[in-house]
Amino acid sequence: MIAPSILSADFANLGAEAEAVAGSGTNRADWLHVDVMDAHFVPNLTLGLPVVESLLKATDIPLDCHLMIEDPGRWAPPYAEAGAYNVTFHAEATDDPVAVARDVRAAGAKAGLSIKPGTPLEPYLQILRDFDTLLIMSVEPGFGGQQFIPEVLAKARAIRKFIDSEDLRLLVEIDGGINADTIEQAAEAGIDCFVAGSAVYGAADPGAAVGALRAQAAAARASAG
Ligand code: DX5
Ligand code: ZN
Repeated sequence: MIAPSILSADFANLGAEAEAVAGSGTNRADWLHVDVMDAHFVPNLTLGLPVVESLLKATDIPLDCHLMIEDPGRWAPPYAEAGAYNVTFHAEATDDPVAVARDVRAAGAKAGLSIKPGTPLEPYLQILRDFDTLLIMSVEPGFGGQQFIPEVLAKARAIRKFIDSEDLRLLVEIDGGINADTIEQAAEAGIDCFVAGSAVYGAADPGAAVGALRAQAAAARASAG
Protein backbone atom coordinates (compact mmCIF):
# COMPACT_ATOMS: atom_id res chain seq x y z
CA MET A 1 0.00 0.00 0.00
CA ILE A 2 1.10 3.56 -0.73
CA ALA A 3 0.05 6.48 1.46
CA PRO A 4 1.11 9.86 0.03
CA SER A 5 1.78 12.43 2.75
CA ILE A 6 0.11 15.76 2.15
CA LEU A 7 2.83 17.42 4.24
CA SER A 8 4.64 17.90 0.93
CA ALA A 9 1.51 19.07 -0.92
CA ASP A 10 0.27 22.62 -1.52
CA PHE A 11 -1.70 23.47 1.64
CA ALA A 12 -3.73 26.08 -0.23
CA ASN A 13 -4.99 23.41 -2.66
CA LEU A 14 -5.46 20.32 -0.55
CA GLY A 15 -8.60 19.17 -2.36
CA ALA A 16 -6.83 19.21 -5.73
CA GLU A 17 -3.73 17.60 -4.22
CA ALA A 18 -5.85 14.72 -2.90
CA GLU A 19 -7.46 14.43 -6.32
CA ALA A 20 -4.00 14.15 -7.91
CA VAL A 21 -3.51 10.74 -6.27
CA ALA A 22 -7.15 9.59 -6.56
CA GLY A 23 -6.89 8.17 -10.06
CA SER A 24 -7.51 4.57 -10.96
CA GLY A 25 -5.51 1.37 -10.91
CA THR A 26 -2.09 1.20 -9.32
CA ASN A 27 -1.68 5.00 -9.44
CA ARG A 28 -4.44 5.44 -6.89
CA ALA A 29 -3.30 6.09 -3.31
CA ASP A 30 -4.55 3.54 -0.79
CA TRP A 31 -4.59 6.05 2.03
CA LEU A 32 -3.89 9.75 2.28
CA HIS A 33 -1.41 10.38 5.09
CA VAL A 34 -2.14 13.51 7.14
CA ASP A 35 0.61 14.76 9.47
CA VAL A 36 -0.81 16.58 12.48
CA MET A 37 1.90 18.44 14.44
CA ASP A 38 1.39 20.60 17.51
CA ALA A 39 4.76 22.41 17.89
CA HIS A 40 5.13 20.67 21.28
CA PHE A 41 5.65 16.95 20.61
CA VAL A 42 7.62 18.00 17.53
CA PRO A 43 9.12 21.43 16.76
CA ASN A 44 6.86 21.97 13.75
CA LEU A 45 3.22 23.07 13.42
CA THR A 46 0.94 21.87 10.62
CA LEU A 47 -2.81 21.36 10.70
CA GLY A 48 -5.55 20.01 12.92
CA LEU A 49 -9.08 18.72 13.09
CA PRO A 50 -10.84 21.44 11.02
CA VAL A 51 -8.56 20.76 8.05
CA VAL A 52 -9.10 17.01 8.42
CA GLU A 53 -12.87 17.58 8.46
CA SER A 54 -12.61 19.56 5.23
CA LEU A 55 -10.39 16.93 3.62
CA LEU A 56 -12.91 14.22 4.50
CA LYS A 57 -15.46 16.13 2.44
CA ALA A 58 -13.02 16.65 -0.42
CA THR A 59 -11.82 13.08 -0.99
CA ASP A 60 -12.99 9.49 -0.73
CA ILE A 61 -9.45 8.21 -0.14
CA PRO A 62 -9.31 6.90 3.45
CA LEU A 63 -7.40 9.30 5.72
CA ASP A 64 -4.42 8.01 7.67
CA CYS A 65 -3.95 10.60 10.41
CA HIS A 66 -0.50 10.63 12.02
CA LEU A 67 -0.73 12.62 15.22
CA MET A 68 2.63 14.01 16.32
CA ILE A 69 1.10 15.69 19.33
CA GLU A 70 1.13 15.69 23.10
CA ASP A 71 -1.83 14.36 25.07
CA PRO A 72 -3.29 12.04 22.41
CA GLY A 73 -5.75 10.74 25.01
CA ARG A 74 -7.50 14.05 24.73
CA TRP A 75 -7.00 14.85 21.05
CA ALA A 76 -6.94 11.55 19.13
CA PRO A 77 -10.57 10.31 19.51
CA PRO A 78 -12.10 13.37 17.77
CA TYR A 79 -10.22 12.46 14.58
CA ALA A 80 -11.86 9.04 14.72
CA GLU A 81 -15.27 10.59 15.39
CA ALA A 82 -14.80 12.90 12.41
CA GLY A 83 -14.31 9.90 10.11
CA ALA A 84 -10.56 9.34 9.76
CA TYR A 85 -9.90 5.76 8.70
CA ASN A 86 -6.77 5.20 10.79
CA VAL A 87 -5.66 7.33 13.73
CA THR A 88 -2.02 6.89 14.75
CA PHE A 89 -0.48 8.50 17.82
CA HIS A 90 2.99 8.27 19.34
CA ALA A 91 3.99 5.77 22.00
CA GLU A 92 6.32 8.42 23.43
CA ALA A 93 3.43 10.84 23.98
CA THR A 94 1.32 8.86 26.44
CA ASP A 95 1.63 6.66 29.53
CA ASP A 96 -1.42 4.64 28.56
CA PRO A 97 -1.39 3.81 24.84
CA VAL A 98 -3.90 0.97 25.27
CA ALA A 99 -6.52 3.32 26.72
CA VAL A 100 -6.06 5.75 23.84
CA ALA A 101 -6.28 2.92 21.28
CA ARG A 102 -9.52 1.67 22.83
CA ASP A 103 -11.03 5.15 22.70
CA VAL A 104 -9.98 5.56 19.06
CA ARG A 105 -11.48 2.20 18.12
CA ALA A 106 -14.66 2.91 20.10
CA ALA A 107 -14.97 6.14 18.10
CA GLY A 108 -14.93 4.12 14.88
CA ALA A 109 -11.39 4.24 13.48
CA LYS A 110 -8.47 1.87 13.25
CA ALA A 111 -5.87 2.59 15.93
CA GLY A 112 -2.19 3.04 15.16
CA LEU A 113 0.90 3.18 17.34
CA SER A 114 3.95 5.09 16.11
CA ILE A 115 7.51 4.87 17.38
CA LYS A 116 10.36 7.29 16.71
CA PRO A 117 13.64 5.97 15.22
CA GLY A 118 15.29 5.68 18.64
CA THR A 119 12.34 4.04 20.41
CA PRO A 120 12.64 0.27 20.86
CA LEU A 121 9.81 -2.06 19.93
CA GLU A 122 10.10 -4.55 22.80
CA PRO A 123 8.17 -2.59 25.48
CA TYR A 124 5.15 -2.43 23.15
CA LEU A 125 5.02 -5.96 21.73
CA GLN A 126 2.46 -7.18 24.24
CA ILE A 127 -0.02 -4.35 23.60
CA LEU A 128 -0.10 -4.63 19.82
CA ARG A 129 -3.33 -6.64 19.90
CA ASP A 130 -5.01 -3.39 20.84
CA PHE A 131 -3.77 -1.82 17.60
CA ASP A 132 -4.51 -2.21 13.91
CA THR A 133 -1.41 -0.50 12.59
CA LEU A 134 2.19 0.10 13.67
CA LEU A 135 4.00 3.06 12.15
CA ILE A 136 7.78 2.83 12.23
CA MET A 137 9.34 6.26 11.82
CA SER A 138 12.39 6.21 9.56
CA VAL A 139 13.24 9.89 10.18
CA GLU A 140 12.87 12.02 13.31
CA PRO A 141 9.25 13.21 13.19
CA GLY A 142 8.64 16.85 12.35
CA PHE A 143 9.62 17.55 8.79
CA GLY A 144 9.30 16.12 5.29
CA GLY A 145 12.21 15.63 2.93
CA GLN A 146 14.66 14.12 5.44
CA GLN A 147 17.04 11.24 4.82
CA PHE A 148 15.93 7.66 5.48
CA ILE A 149 17.48 6.00 8.57
CA PRO A 150 18.14 2.39 7.47
CA GLU A 151 18.80 1.14 11.04
CA VAL A 152 15.05 1.17 11.75
CA LEU A 153 14.60 -1.74 9.35
CA ALA A 154 15.77 -4.07 12.12
CA LYS A 155 12.47 -3.20 13.86
CA ALA A 156 10.54 -3.94 10.68
CA ARG A 157 12.11 -7.40 10.41
CA ALA A 158 11.49 -8.10 14.09
CA ILE A 159 7.84 -7.12 13.97
CA ARG A 160 7.28 -9.17 10.81
CA LYS A 161 8.58 -12.25 12.64
CA PHE A 162 6.49 -11.44 15.70
CA ILE A 163 3.33 -10.99 13.61
CA ASP A 164 3.85 -14.37 11.97
CA SER A 165 4.67 -16.24 15.17
CA GLU A 166 1.86 -14.67 17.23
CA ASP A 167 -0.66 -14.68 14.39
CA LEU A 168 -1.24 -10.95 14.93
CA ARG A 169 -3.44 -8.87 12.69
CA LEU A 170 -1.32 -5.74 12.37
CA LEU A 171 -0.44 -3.63 9.37
CA VAL A 172 3.10 -2.22 9.42
CA GLU A 173 3.76 1.23 7.99
CA ILE A 174 7.01 3.07 7.46
CA ASP A 175 7.26 6.86 7.34
CA GLY A 176 10.13 9.12 6.42
CA GLY A 177 12.55 9.29 3.51
CA ILE A 178 10.73 6.70 1.41
CA ASN A 179 11.53 7.16 -2.27
CA ALA A 180 12.78 5.21 -5.30
CA ASP A 181 16.16 4.68 -3.61
CA THR A 182 14.85 3.37 -0.28
CA ILE A 183 11.49 1.67 -0.82
CA GLU A 184 12.97 -1.65 -1.93
CA GLN A 185 14.92 -2.28 1.27
CA ALA A 186 11.83 -1.38 3.30
CA ALA A 187 9.70 -3.77 1.24
CA GLU A 188 12.24 -6.55 1.69
CA ALA A 189 12.06 -5.98 5.45
CA GLY A 190 8.33 -6.75 5.33
CA ILE A 191 6.64 -3.34 5.38
CA ASP A 192 2.98 -3.32 4.25
CA CYS A 193 2.31 0.38 3.79
CA PHE A 194 4.72 3.06 2.61
CA VAL A 195 4.21 6.71 3.47
CA ALA A 196 5.83 9.03 0.94
CA GLY A 197 5.66 12.81 0.99
CA SER A 198 8.30 14.49 -1.13
CA ALA A 199 8.67 11.45 -3.41
CA VAL A 200 5.01 11.78 -4.43
CA TYR A 201 4.21 15.48 -4.19
CA GLY A 202 7.64 16.57 -5.40
CA ALA A 203 7.06 14.60 -8.61
CA ALA A 204 5.66 16.19 -11.76
CA ASP A 205 2.89 13.55 -11.79
CA PRO A 206 2.00 12.48 -8.22
CA GLY A 207 -0.29 9.68 -9.42
CA ALA A 208 2.44 8.18 -11.60
CA ALA A 209 4.84 8.43 -8.65
CA VAL A 210 2.40 6.37 -6.55
CA GLY A 211 2.23 3.72 -9.26
CA ALA A 212 6.02 3.61 -9.68
CA LEU A 213 6.67 3.28 -5.93
CA ARG A 214 4.04 0.55 -5.68
CA ALA A 215 5.61 -1.43 -8.53
CA GLN A 216 9.07 -1.16 -6.99
CA ALA A 217 7.83 -2.28 -3.57
CA ALA A 218 5.84 -5.18 -4.99
CA ALA A 219 8.79 -6.44 -7.03
CA ALA A 220 11.16 -6.19 -4.06
CA ARG A 221 8.72 -7.95 -1.74
CA ALA A 222 8.16 -10.73 -4.28
CA SER A 223 11.86 -11.37 -4.84
CA ALA A 224 12.45 -11.34 -1.07
CA GLY A 225 9.84 -14.11 -0.82
C1 DX5 B 1 7.50 13.48 9.11
C2 DX5 B 1 6.16 13.00 8.65
C3 DX5 B 1 6.17 12.30 7.35
C4 DX5 B 1 6.63 13.15 6.20
C5 DX5 B 1 7.37 12.26 5.26
O1 DX5 B 1 7.45 13.80 10.46
O2 DX5 B 1 5.60 12.09 9.60
O3 DX5 B 1 4.90 11.74 7.05
O4 DX5 B 1 5.60 13.75 5.48
O5 DX5 B 1 7.90 13.02 4.25
P1 DX5 B 1 9.01 12.42 3.27
O6 DX5 B 1 8.40 11.26 2.57
O7 DX5 B 1 9.34 13.57 2.39
O8 DX5 B 1 10.16 11.99 4.16
ZN1 ZN C 1 3.75 11.01 8.97
